[in-house]
Amino acid sequence: MKGRAAAARAAELRRLIERANHGYYVLDKPEISDAEYDRLFRELQELEAKHPELRTPDSPTHRVGAPPAAGFKKHRHLVPMLSLANAFNEAELAEWEERNARLSPEVKTAGYTLEVKIDGAAVSLTYDDGVCVIGATRGNGVEGEDVTTNLRTVLDVPLRLRGKGWPKLMEVRGEVYLSKTRFAELNKERDHAGEPTFANPRNAAAGALRQLDPKITRSRRLRIFCFHVEAPGQKLPVATQHDLLQQLAAWGFPVEPHHKLVPDLAAANQEIATFEPLLEQLDYGADGVVVKVNPLELHAELGTVGDREPRWAIARKFAPEVRVTRLKEIRINVGRTGALNPYAVLEPVEIGGVTVSTATLHNFELIKAKDIREGDLVEVTRAGEVIPQLLGPVIKKGVRRARPYQPPDRCPVCKSKVEHPPDEVMVYCPNVSCLGRIFESIVHFASRTAMDIRGLGPERVKALLDAKLIKDVADLYELTTMQLLTLEGFAEKSAQQLVAAIQASQQQPLSTLLFALGIRHVGVQGARLLARHFGTMKALAKASADEINKIRGIGPAIAEAVAGFFVEPKNRKLVERLEKLGLNMKEPEATEGKGPLAGQVYVITGTLPSLSRAKAGELIEAAGGHVTDGVSRNTTAVVVGADAGAKLEKAKAFGVPLIDEAELLRRARAKP
Ligand code: IVH
Repeated sequence: MKGRAAAARAAELRRLIERANHGYYVLDKPEISDAEYDRLFRELQELEAKHPELRTPDSPTHRVGAPPAAGFKKHRHLVPMLSLANAFNEAELAEWEERNARLSPEVKTAGYTLEVKIDGAAVSLTYDDGVCVIGATRGNGVEGEDVTTNLRTVLDVPLRLRGKGWPKLMEVRGEVYLSKTRFAELNKERDHAGEPTFANPRNAAAGALRQLDPKITRSRRLRIFCFHVEAPGQKLPVATQHDLLQQLAAWGFPVEPHHKLVPDLAAANQEIATFEPLLEQLDYGADGVVVKVNPLELHAELGTVGDREPRWAIARKFAPEVRVTRLKEIRINVGRTGALNPYAVLEPVEIGGVTVSTATLHNFELIKAKDIREGDLVEVTRAGEVIPQLLGPVIKKGVRRARPYQPPDRCPVCKSKVEHPPDEVMVYCPNVSCLGRIFESIVHFASRTAMDIRGLGPERVKALLDAKLIKDVADLYELTTMQLLTLEGFAEKSAQQLVAAIQASQQQPLSTLLFALGIRHVGVQGARLLARHFGTMKALAKASADEINKIRGIGPAIAEAVAGFFVEPKNRKLVERLEKLGLNMKEPEATEGKGPLAGQVYVITGTLPSLSRAKAGELIEAAGGHVTDGVSRNTTAVVVGADAGAKLEKAKAFGVPLIDEAELLRRARAKP
């Protein structure tokens, strides 16, 4: 190809690739197959290699492998992003009102809105003529980071507004968060993949926003609630905060649904009392109630304290419930990767209606820093965090304590000398045959998100290992009913059931098997991408790290880990043995765009009678449909199970059809 033709083709390819990226990363609606994408990409690479003059700085080929190395551009907010003052009780709230009343006496009768204070990461979305043009973090309040590409992956951020009446240029302020459900799921996946878990949903959300690679942000499935607008020098079509919330919802912004309008502070206090128990129940972190003066006119009049806090709003916070109990013992769990995870065994104590008897201690450095010793009285809390936290010891004068805690220098399970990589806080057992590690890897293999072997939980895995009936996951497939009957707790029927469940798991697709093998960094999503790309275990086992790295959605860490896994003779042998034992080593062809549910989008909520959520999702995808987390107007139907939550409410609000598991099975023409 010569000069002009080559230039035209390069431009065309760039356009096609960018469009495919947009569909894939931003819209969550891939328009072309992976193979097609790879073909276009390679053609562009070759063209640029032959005609270096055609290489433009914005060519998508520059994005191959690693995401852009530099940080984010700075973004200066039109109006600074403020924080809020706190009030911890009624008296402090009353003082706040008195201070305001000295400036504007009307506040006492003007009414207040009460809003749930979302505990996430503050962001500002800039809309120009109703189109989202910039998304930025708070930063220092005056200047944040431009994370537009990442914020566009937050599926409920409206990219274009609905309705009418918005100011030409406005900044909409909101809070990006991670649902507690998604947080637990992510941590489970990360734990399975041998990656460090997140401390709380807020950190996970803030971290996700600042990823250089938007596909990582997207995979976290962040959400947003909006609550404030800045439109300097322009008119808003509403006069009160309460109407503003309604207006935001009409424009298409997600607005937290529990907000209330009250006539005065006495009514506010009454309502706030009902918020306190509610906050715990929500599927997102909420660290208080924001009380706002209702008329926007008074906001302007009251103004701000410096460039820091508005006078017209305050955060009413609830002191977290902290209980004191005795730390009976510090125990260590050896994870699948060999990481030694210390945890506290506590004298059971009730915190916020939940009985707590263990708490994570994270790592040995933390135990040392807080000087936590066995036998200590300790403070424990569950505030905002999902996992109980041990705050620290309560030291009383004159009370004798045990000696400072000594981290072990040997693995508590296999007694190997532990290793402490210099750049890590975690300490590891280096022995790949350590029973502790093997135990965890078999439990993971059998778990619901992996091979889904019903009836094979941690206790039974332990019993099988103790009785030396198994040494690895392949041994499971040679277990007989007779052998199981020699174990305590098994009868004819339960033994047969377990053998049947193990046999049934042989049919799991390659993606499930890959995830179940517990290759470092390979989570559910990564395993699916690998299986779809290579199709068979053989093809994957032969691939180099470079080849794997080229797959969209797979980063260098996964690529290295996967290639490294298949280099290890022990692992190759295990995989060969599994194949001989009859396990499925193939991935069924992707059916996207085909099948009875082609083009349909489903949301699953609550516990279904027979299918796990993962299985229901697989079934929908196998029938050509798509599963998303959040209900929107594009949702075909919501599959509702027992104890369905906010999604059910949202579906009703949007008028999205509700169906049950039986109807889903009918539509997908599947049997349970
Ligand atoms: S109003 C000038 N309302 O809390 C506007 N903030 O600690 C001030 N937040 O930076 C914020 N939920 O990111 C407001 N319903 C809500 C909120 C909320 C969460 C965050 C917000 C703010 C931080 C202040």
